[in-house]
Amino acid sequence: MRTPIIAGNWKMNKTPAESVAFAEALLPAINDLAGAEKVVIPTYVALPGVNQALAGSQIRVGAQDCHPEPSGAYTSSIAAPMLVGLAEYVVIGHSETRQYLGVTDEQVNGKLKAALAAGLKPIVALGEVLEQRRAGQHREVCQTQLRAALDGIPAEAIPGLVIAYEPVWAIGTGENASVADAEEIIGGVLRPTVAELYGQPAADAVRIQYGGSVKPDNMAEYMALPDIDGALVGGASLKMDSFAELIRLAIQAKGG
Ligand code: PGA
Repeated sequence: MRTPIIAGNWKMNKTPAESVAFAEALLPAINDLAGAEKVVIPTYVALPGVNQALAGSQIRVGAQDCHPEPSGAYTSSIAAPMLVGLAEYVVIGHSETRQYLGVTDEQVNGKLKAALAAGLKPIVALGEVLEQRRAGQHREVCQTQLRAALDGIPAEAIPGLVIAYEPVWAIGTGENASVADAEEIIGGVLRPTVAELYGQPAADAVRIQYGGSVKPDNMAEYMALPDIDGALVGGASLKMDSFAELIRLAIQAKGG
């Protein structure tokens, strides 16, 4: 039985002070909701404060990215070892980093290796853009991204991995993918690809989230699918009521 995981990606929102205040407000609202893993992913500069505010709680902290190299002349970048002690999870390959920062599949693979080497738990995000879906290439694109990300990753790392299927056209647009679209990729492509590469037990263990305009009014339908193990949430994670509701809905659907 896979524990559902709901991760709130705050992106470039909230100052450190606002992030800490939000974390402190979330604590009584969601800390005791059992049956799902709860993760908040603030901006880097808010990590120390948020991590401290949530110390000893049931809410995990994640970072939004990391660099493939452990250190070096990479002005503006954050290396995985720098996140140790501040974050437990790290998002890798988010479409906004692919789109705006030019992160390639090869770099996603390097970042994943770096995260694992530092002992962080990676959330590997992938998904097709609208043109690829319109051209009927979405299955192939997602499989290629996953294979590239996992290149050289040892089998023992797979059960600890979280994969997030986030069709780019659904992120921040309010236009969420249909449940059938999500299942086509998660149950039809991603889990079978993990099975092909690492065997069925690994595919049964790996958690796969859906992401892209997840809101309280569409959460339950995704969570009803056995293949979908939670959500990576942007906009709806920035408000306490909606984030708490997403967690409740996941727990309800997964029988927690
Ligand atoms: P959204 O973002 O929920 O605002 O669509 C999802 C994400 O980028 O993880």
